[in-house]
Amino acid sequence: MDADRIAAVSENSTPRREQHVGSVLSVRGAEASFGILRRNDAAGETDGTTVGKFLAIASKNSLLIGFVTEVSVEVPEIVREQGYAGSARLELMGEIRKERHGTKFRRGVTEYPLIGDPVVTVGADALQLIFGRTGAQNIVIGRLQQEPTLAACVQVDEMLSRHFAVFGTTGVGKSSGVAVLLQQVLKARPNLRIFLLDAHNEYARCFGDQAHVVNPGNLKLPFWLFNFEELVDVIFGGRSPGVEDEFQILAELIPIAKSMYVQYQTVGSRTSAKKLDSKNTGFTVDTPVPYRLADLVSLIDDRLGKLENRSSRMKYFKLIMRIEAVSNDPRYNFMFENANVGGDTMAEVICHLFRIAPGAKPMTVMQLAGLPVEVVDSVVSVVGRMAFEFGLWSDGAFPILFFCEEAHRYASADRALGFGPTRRALSRIAKEGRKCGVFLGLASQRPAELDATIISQCSTLFVMRMANDRDQAIIRSAVSDAAASLVNLVSSLGTREVLAFGEGVSLPVRMVFADLPKDLIPSSEAVRNTHAGTTREAAHDQVDMIVARWRGASINNKNLQLEEGPVAPAAPSKAVPPSAKSVTPQPALHVSAPEHSNGAAHQQSLRASVLERSSILKKNVSLGQQASGQQSSGQQAPAQASPPRSQLPDAQDGRWPL
Ligand SMILES: Nc1ncnc2c1ncn2[C@@H]1O[C@H](COP(=O)(O)OP(=O)(O)OP(=O)(O)O)[C@@H](O)[C@H]1O
Ligand SMILES: [Mg+2]
Repeated sequence: MDADRIAAVSENSTPRREQHVGSVLSVRGAEASFGILRRNDAAGETDGTTVGKFLAIASKNSLLIGFVTEVSVEVPEIVREQGYAGSARLELMGEIRKERHGTKFRRGVTEYPLIGDPVVTVGADALQLIFGRTGAQNIVIGRLQQEPTLAACVQVDEMLSRHFAVFGTTGVGKSSGVAVLLQQVLKARPNLRIFLLDAHNEYARCFGDQAHVVNPGNLKLPFWLFNFEELVDVIFGGRSPGVEDEFQILAELIPIAKSMYVQYQTVGSRTSAKKLDSKNTGFTVDTPVPYRLADLVSLIDDRLGKLENRSSRMKYFKLIMRIEAVSNDPRYNFMFENANVGGDTMAEVICHLFRIAPGAKPMTVMQLAGLPVEVVDSVVSVVGRMAFEFGLWSDGAFPILFFCEEAHRYASADRALGFGPTRRALSRIAKEGRKCGVFLGLASQRPAELDATIISQCSTLFVMRMANDRDQAIIRSAVSDAAASLVNLVSSLGTREVLAFGEGVSLPVRMVFADLPKDLIPSSEAVRNTHAGTTREAAHDQVDMIVARWRGASINNKNLQLEEGPVAPAAPSKAVPPSAKSVTPQPALHVSAPEHSNGAAHQQSLRASVLERSSILKKNVSLGQQASGQQSSGQQAPAQASPPRSQLPDAQDGRWPL
């Protein structure tokens, strides 16, 4: 790999000698201004002096290192006669000194330069001392832009433990840079688990057999692992106004359903459990313990049976319908598979997601592109929360790097946008994760749209080309004052070029990410598949697959192949087949509802109506599973999956089709 080659080259490189460039004219704080000698006076100087370049001031006891922030032809009148061609400003960042145990580089300046001190180029040996410290503490991620023979190293523990972020506009090489970084981290820290949220399904092939790919086909995230806010987001498709009463019902009944499950496990009977009061169950609505969806629906139905007021009853009906619609939707199989069977699979889910089993691959690539869009935020929230809480409750015994691509989607700077719990999950890792071995990595095209508190917790930043002023301003405010002037360069960086700031690097530095071999460059599987089909027939087949995928008809049929990369494991065979799912009994609707004398007949008819709708829904779902292959005939309902939640009648519009 390129990074390894660079490391090897840099170890054998011949140090270039420093060359005299000019002399110090003035000093203000950590900024020195110097006169640039005419080229023919600067003996042998080849590269010239320009912005972004590292230079050194040879002071009495040390070599002060800084980078050029400004170059001008203007020279103060008083020194013009002395043979200067121009002047430049140097931002001083650190110094190289001879110490008892050899020559060392340290950040900060202890001794300021004097007027007349010579300004020299920084030779390869000095650059090596500053940036190229290979060894167990460092990973090589590319080469220095100023001295391409030298490896660019990052201090891996500093970078990980205080979080890091990669920013840059689209197409500049962020994802490829992330692949380089994570490949090197995997090598350097084999005990670290990496959990990568892959927003565009592009990383599956980047890590070879080191990564386990999780996609909607093999993801298991039971609904009871979702906390209340996350579950509500799934069931209601966001908190639309007017459904607060339904939230209230759920908040009361979920703890009871949890207790019923526990009691059933111990006593073997459900009937007594139904008399429980939500306040006395010992579970909160957020406790991650299993319960059966059928019990929850049955509890709602019980309450419904006791009501007489039509509008109150309507809320319960709607809630049942919403739960049914979501749980019968095959796209939500990963949550609701076995929803009525039970079984405490939390440890299994954690081991699967965070690669805990002995000999397990150290990395998880979680492909989000195949999940229903409405549910992605909640899923990210659940996995982010689980990563943090697992770290917390294990006292950091299993260090995890949680890496989030397109982070601005999940933790938006605008608090009114996005899903609050996802932002909270990420910011909790950013703020407290370090103490429990959970580290955060982010990548984003739009730092200005990303929550500023999360950015401020990332102490190593890799900044690639970005033209937008607001994005640059955010970066400027996130880096030290001295480094802020380097940010002016970000609009002119080339592809793969990156400015690295912060704890992970000795000094802010301009580097070039290592060149990835073609087969390891992240790229969307859908795009790759499209390129593969060049003939018209192949393209036509592909469009069929795309349409089927678009409709989300089923996640367990052949369309899933579009989601799966070459290393993605096949969907597990024990997944409930869609047709089986569509006939899952819903005992709650009619098993336990007691009959009441008042208005019993009316209730009966309403309930029958719910049952009827429910069966229509199921029928549509099962038809939807055949959508891509079979044609529906005659009077049959059109072949389509259950309606997305956005199409469910809103509680306020009064058009609920009962
Ligand atoms: N380190 C690298 N090695 C090899 N090729 C690279 C590298 N970095 C970038 N490229 C090239 O640039 C292209 C775009 O890179 P990449 O997909 O990483 O950009 P990006 O910033 O993640 O874009 P987007 O924001 O659209 O996801 C790649 O397909 C690849 O051809
Ligand atoms: Mg990308």
